[in-house]
Amino acid sequence: MLSLLQTVLLCAGSLISRSVVCPAGSLTGTYLAEQPGVPISIPVTSNYTGIKKIPDDDHPFIAPGPDDQRGPCPGLNTLANHGYLPRNGIVTFAQIVEAVGEGFNMEYDLAAALAAFAMLGRGNAYLDLVSIGGESPLIPPLPGFIDGHHAPYGISKHGRFEGDMSITRQDAAIGDNVNFQEDLYDELLLYTGKYGDDSPVTGNSSVVTLKVMQEFKYSRFLEDQVKNPVLEYHPGRFATSYGEAAFVLEFFSNGNCLDLH
Ligand code: HEM
Ligand SMILES: *[C@@H]1O[C@H](CO)[C@@H](O)[C@H](O)[C@H]1NC(C)=O
Ligand SMILES: *[C@@H]1O[C@H](CO)[C@@H](O)[C@H](O)[C@H]1NC(C)=O
Repeated sequence: MLSLLQTVLLCAGSLISRSVVCPAGSLTGTYLAEQPGVPISIPVTSNYTGIKKIPDDDHPFIAPGPDDQRGPCPGLNTLANHGYLPRNGIVTFAQIVEAVGEGFNMEYDLAAALAAFAMLGRGNAYLDLVSIGGESPLIPPLPGFIDGHHAPYGISKHGRFEGDMSITRQDAAIGDNVNFQEDLYDELLLYTGKYGDDSPVTGNSSVVTLKVMQEFKYSRFLEDQVKNPVLEYHPGRFATSYGEAAFVLEFFSNGNCLDLH
């Protein structure tokens, strides 16, 4: 499954380089005259191998304002809430790669592939801008309106990146696919209570494990087949949705059960 995930993401990743070397020569109209393209820069890989406090004092939590974009990705939302990403939620390719590296130690190639997927699927790669939430007036439509006469929708929009059977977001056809849903989280807690590991710090049956995620995702799959008549669970979505379960285990681990010394 990992190789499928890698394949899907690397394909998306390879497209970004094409968008860099492919100036919109074939596109015409006033748009291009008014709006020169922005080359997408690839940030230098960090060579830092020590331990860092995250978030540090320079990155305090500030709740998003009414015009700040937040969306279906708890990782990106958190990074914006702490200023590792621009707090307005309008971000560039390099900002995503650097922020997920610094904030969550996400490895460079995976970060670049995900950022590329978001940028190409729901952003404006011509201007190197994508919204981590919904449509924003800060991001103009694509050259030649190749994705419609509107601002790019942002990653909240169902269909390309955002998809069904999420952990804490409802399927778009059923309910709120963008914001945290307490009933789904309660379901995850139920499965944690049933299958989770014991911890001397957080209590018995409190640690979310691979087993918890497997059982929970399978139950979500059965549930969605009953509730969602237009359920989309194709191989691409399969890879990203299970990838996101792995993100919870890998990136949201709190270190309680590890010896960090
Ligand atoms: C590298 C750039 C990233 C991009 C472009 C990205 C984008 C997204 C998108 C579009 C979704 C919604 C998919 C859905 O419909 O379920 C999502 C979900 C998710 N992301 Fe990210 N993400 C990134 C990095 C991260 C990081 C670093 C973390 C963890 C720290 C993370 C954790 C998650 C989780 C746990 C979900 C599932 C939420 C849920 O189902 O309730 N992501 N991400
Ligand atoms: C990391 O990179 C910086 C800047 O390029 C350099 O000054 C430093 O010596 C490097 N550190 C290590 C451990 O390689
Ligand atoms: C957790 O489980 C262990 C082993 O089953 C038991 O001895 C202990 O009392 C439990 N702790 C709590 C807080 O329930």
